[in-house]
Amino acid sequence: MTTKVQTAIFPVAGLGTRFLPATKATPKELLPVLDTPLIQYAIDEARAAGIKRMVFVSHTSKPAIERHVMDDIRLRRELEARGKPRLAEELKEAAFCPKSDDVVFTMQDEPRGLGHAVLCARDHVLDGPVAVILPDDLILGAPCIGEMVEAYDRGHMVATMTVAPEDVSKYGVLAVTGHDGRITHAHGMVEKPAASEAPSRKAVIGRYVLDADIFDALETQAPGAGGEIQLTDAIAKRAQERPISGFSFSGTRFDCGSKSGMLEATLHLAEQDPELADVLYAYAGAHTRTQSAA
Ligand code: UTP
Repeated sequence: MTTKVQTAIFPVAGLGTRFLPATKATPKELLPVLDTPLIQYAIDEARAAGIKRMVFVSHTSKPAIERHVMDDIRLRRELEARGKPRLAEELKEAAFCPKSDDVVFTMQDEPRGLGHAVLCARDHVLDGPVAVILPDDLILGAPCIGEMVEAYDRGHMVATMTVAPEDVSKYGVLAVTGHDGRITHAHGMVEKPAASEAPSRKAVIGRYVLDADIFDALETQAPGAGGEIQLTDAIAKRAQERPISGFSFSGTRFDCGSKSGMLEATLHLAEQDPELADVLYAYAGAHTRTQSAA
């Protein structure tokens, strides 16, 4: 059995209720940070990690995701005809081509939780461990899943970061037993604990490299928090005998499943673009908190 990570799973079948009404007709995963949809950042990260097969777990109500992800020859030809060959080329590079890329779309019939979405990918993965990437956790800077694939040895690895005590209840949290460089060893994991009951402040972020036995664990996983089949519960199942590895990644993470995280990510990227930085600082200079609150 290989330890090479050949498959990335992108669960994109959720309802995106925190972004309604924006997500009534537009999938959350297509909301842009500046001009690039969240799903594109996730795809670029998986490509940079050298992953071969990309499996999207989507829903029939979200066909726009496939439209974005796959190459659109007609649009490219139209752009070329209008004298925009460079834009056409950029779109081609970002998209997958059915002939040369290994891409699978499969459907989750109902949003029964992240664990259930990952299970829906089971019949489509290649041999060995799988990467799972949640597009609404945007990680900029060093590509997180690439760092994890490189550090991965065996078992289940989750990306982790230390969060403030008041924030632990938003995350899966590791029950830590020790540290070894960038790896945190844990013998368990609790989904969204109350601050007073959290085993640590090491929160799990939306990047995973999971042993293929995760699918067996998910098959028998009972619904957990929120009545959903939780991926964290399945990962934690055998953690007493086989510790979970938490990986401290070097990039900067933005919670783009929330409005505040989306705004932060947008400002972060705007600050790095000379033209947009001028707009940003001019706006900030002209508006004080009292003015904008008035
Ligand atoms: P979230 O819980 O952040 O997304 O799931 P959501 O449920 O769509 O959003 P809210 O909380 O209602 O605003 C993280 C990722 O997992 C996918 C989502 O599409 C998102 O990319 N997901 C979630 C599924 O594919 N299926 C599910 O049943 C649940």
